[in-house]
Amino acid sequence: MKIITIIGARPQIIKAAAISRAIRNSFAQQIKEIIIHTGQHYDENMSEVFFDELQIPRPHYNLNVGSGNHGKQTAKMLEGIEEIILKEKPNAVLVYGDTNSTVAGGLAASKLLVPLIHIEAGLRSFNKSMPEEINRIACDHMSTLLFSPTHQGVENLKKEGFKIDAVSPYSIDNPKVYHCGDIMFDNSLYFSELADKKTILKDLNLTPGFILATIHRNANTDDADRLSSIFEALSEISSTNKIQVVLPLHPRTKKMMDVNLSAELKSQIENNPLIKIIPPVSFLDVIALEKNAGMIVTDSGGVQKEAFFFKKPCLILRPETEWIEIVQNGNALLCDADKNKIVDSFRKLTGKNDFTYPEIFGDGKAAEFICSEIVKHIP
Ligand code: UD1
Ligand code: UDP
Repeated sequence: MKIITIIGARPQIIKAAAISRAIRNSFAQQIKEIIIHTGQHYDENMSEVFFDELQIPRPHYNLNVGSGNHGKQTAKMLEGIEEIILKEKPNAVLVYGDTNSTVAGGLAASKLLVPLIHIEAGLRSFNKSMPEEINRIACDHMSTLLFSPTHQGVENLKKEGFKIDAVSPYSIDNPKVYHCGDIMFDNSLYFSELADKKTILKDLNLTPGFILATIHRNANTDDADRLSSIFEALSEISSTNKIQVVLPLHPRTKKMMDVNLSAELKSQIENNPLIKIIPPVSFLDVIALEKNAGMIVTDSGGVQKEAFFFKKPCLILRPETEWIEIVQNGNALLCDADKNKIVDSFRKLTGKNDFTYPEIFGDGKAAEFICSEIVKHIP
């Protein structure tokens, strides 16, 4: 069978490694994967860097849509994906997560009556001011096979009317919901050892125990008060505790720091020798940083989970999270973009030593399971 996979933003490129690997290892006779890169992310270190390092097949198509307002960006993707679906006539289209590339793939497929497979289905923040929340709800309701990484995701779908006991044949009107574990857990296990060979710690002169920070949510970058508050907190934590902070900077944040931080705060950060702001890094480098960090401070969905995978406490720079299990289990604290809460939560988690790591994200074999169900249920 022929499956079209849509990727576009950094986390989707990384996720594609897990499914492509499962196809290569176990399903090469049954599944031919055609990859479309929408071009949503295009900087070398947001896209190209991942393909060789993670053994991801080169995209067959790149739509080169680039950045733009949501409507225009999504519309360009929709047009391009539709054309390719009409030409390639796939048995199904597979999308990851909740970006504009995801929803464009979902719309193009469902309007052409091609079954949609959604990986990372069911996640909800219950905050519709997040563009991702609109994308993921829309995608779930256009899908035929919904693969949820967590039990909470399955519960969310039940509440939206999905029947958990659907019987095959499955379709957009009779969709199948699976609990399958997280393909990013598969990836983290698979790439963890390779990351140990990386020299990034030495190159950056980092001593294990540092803080790894990532910031890119539009709610944080585009609001001067919130962005300032996060940087003030990082600056205070590093100075008070004499702790190094490393921040691989997302291009969106780089742009908005110039707009939204005062000259005084910018100079305070730039002149703090403990704070290292670096360009985005490769996945193996970020794993090396995660494994050696003492604490992770992030508004990223992926990095929150990786903090859990690598058994690191995490401060989440959001008022809520889709990955609520790691908060409920005490591994992470929701700090919003509130300076005092961030500083306070750093202290609380530094002093905590009774963390547990239950099997929330599956057994590391989610991608194999997903492929086996696709082969059984996509005609
Ligand atoms: C997107 C996703 C978000 C995901 C994130 C992963 C949507 C709505 N958002 O957010 O869910 O968490 O990717 O990183 O799909 N830019 C560059 N170079 C690039 C890419 C982006 O300079 O290669 C800059 C541009 O100024 C652009 C801005 O970053 O306008 C935002 O990029 P965009 O893809 O629109 O959204 P993200 O914030 O990256
Ligand atoms: N990541 C990376 N390099 C970086 C920062 C993050 O490879 O410099 C990885 C990270 O390990 C995770 C993924 O990118 O697997 C998360 O992407 P991002 O934070 O951009 O988006 P989100 O997960 O919030 O959608």
